[in-house]
Amino acid sequence: MGRLIIVSNRVPSPRERSQPAGGLAVGLKDALREGESLWFGWSGKQVQLHGGDPVPRLDRVDNVTYATIDLTPLQYEGFYQNFSNGILWPLFHYRVGLMNYSRTDWETYLAVNAMFARTLLPLLRPDDVIWVHDYHLFPLGQALRDLGVNCRIGFFLHIPFPPWSLVRSLPGAELLLEDMQAYDLVGVQTPEDAENLNHSLEANGLPARGQAFPIGIDPDEFRAQAEKSMQGEEVERLEGSLRGARLVLGVDRLDYSKGLPERFRGYEALLARYPEHRGKVTFLQVAPISRGSVEEYRQLRRQLDELTGRINGAYSEFDWTPIRYITRPLPREVLAGFYRRAEAALITPLRDGMNLVAKEYVAAQDPANPGVLILSHFAGAAPEMDEGILVNPYDPDEIADALHAALTMGLAERRTRWRALEREVSSTTAVSWAADFLRALEAAPVAERS
Ligand code: ADP
Ligand code: G6P
Repeated sequence: MGRLIIVSNRVPSPRERSQPAGGLAVGLKDALREGESLWFGWSGKQVQLHGGDPVPRLDRVDNVTYATIDLTPLQYEGFYQNFSNGILWPLFHYRVGLMNYSRTDWETYLAVNAMFARTLLPLLRPDDVIWVHDYHLFPLGQALRDLGVNCRIGFFLHIPFPPWSLVRSLPGAELLLEDMQAYDLVGVQTPEDAENLNHSLEANGLPARGQAFPIGIDPDEFRAQAEKSMQGEEVERLEGSLRGARLVLGVDRLDYSKGLPERFRGYEALLARYPEHRGKVTFLQVAPISRGSVEEYRQLRRQLDELTGRINGAYSEFDWTPIRYITRPLPREVLAGFYRRAEAALITPLRDGMNLVAKEYVAAQDPANPGVLILSHFAGAAPEMDEGILVNPYDPDEIADALHAALTMGLAERRTRWRALEREVSSTTAVSWAADFLRALEAAPVAERS
């Protein structure tokens, strides 16, 4: 097999210790340990270009060559901020009402995809296998085929795929589905997503080619990080500051798909209905700001500032604060220790492609005294992780009951549930996910070239 070419909008920085939060970059990085590969995508920078396409910057680290291009401010706005994150993201997370459609943004989206194809082309060799990732790049496969690329091209969608009755609200949705015919294989996270995608294709007279490949993490590495982090200064400081209180942890990008206001209200309901936990539990929510230039994300931030202030104002004692809320990212190795220290993880997205945080929490636990995973039914991880306490994230009382159950659960039940979860997390890893997808891509019938 030739090189593996990964294409994604977000590319992790090969040399920096701190990485942007987000499942795509984390999962793929863990998967790319073997073989020769090239990872192509956006540099994360905006630069004013005067005519012509950008020239990729190459940086090789171990077996991976990173090739990144800058976007102009107009491309950033139309392609990344408006079309990808203001239209596709809400729609694919079942939030049609948040979609701000504009035809100009659609045109910029197509133009940037065509530009990605043109700038990638000179870096390609005939025996490469290309793997395109996520909603920013639906049309890229077709754009590459238009330039004569004949390699195997696969596509993986990291976010949910909703039913056709929702997808069709996007003007031009049929064109996106038609473009997907350029891929030899299309992977999604769950069987439900595959069913929705295939129905959408069939509704448009196109052959179904979606298959579920649930993504995982590198559990061994994460466990080792968590163990190491327990000896570190940050966990010691956290421990000291808790002064014996139990810890409930939430870790998410600051995104409306994560159900954060509903979660905060769930914790508030715990304090209201189970007063025995007051003063004895602390909820730490780490939610680094994400896509801060998109209006809906700013509104969410204001809402959470207000909610935290209100709940803390109502329940704090002079020596206890119920919610600790951080909007800066934390290094992964510190996070890993916090997961291990936490008696419960509260992971309640309204919709999520997979949710790697749930898997990281399980991997980080101490087998002798594991914490409890509280997980939304609407995370892609839920069908695999039903030994956690599954909740409807829209119901604060259900979240409160789940928290109470988690905080009072005996050791034997915690261990039984955790062992089942741990088996699941160890059996579907980032490495096995990538290997399964690439094997299926190799075996897939060649897509008709148009
Ligand atoms: P999404 O892809 O929507 O962000 P996931 O849960 O699948 O959701 O992936 C999030 C990834 O980002 C995880 O690997 C998680 O550890 C990382 N992450 C989330 N929040 C933070 C944070 N505050 N600091 C550092 N990394 C984070
Ligand atoms: C999710 C998406 C990724 C994206 C990440 C972070 O995981 O599926 O494609 O990279 O969120 O979002 P950002 O906009 O910062 O890349």
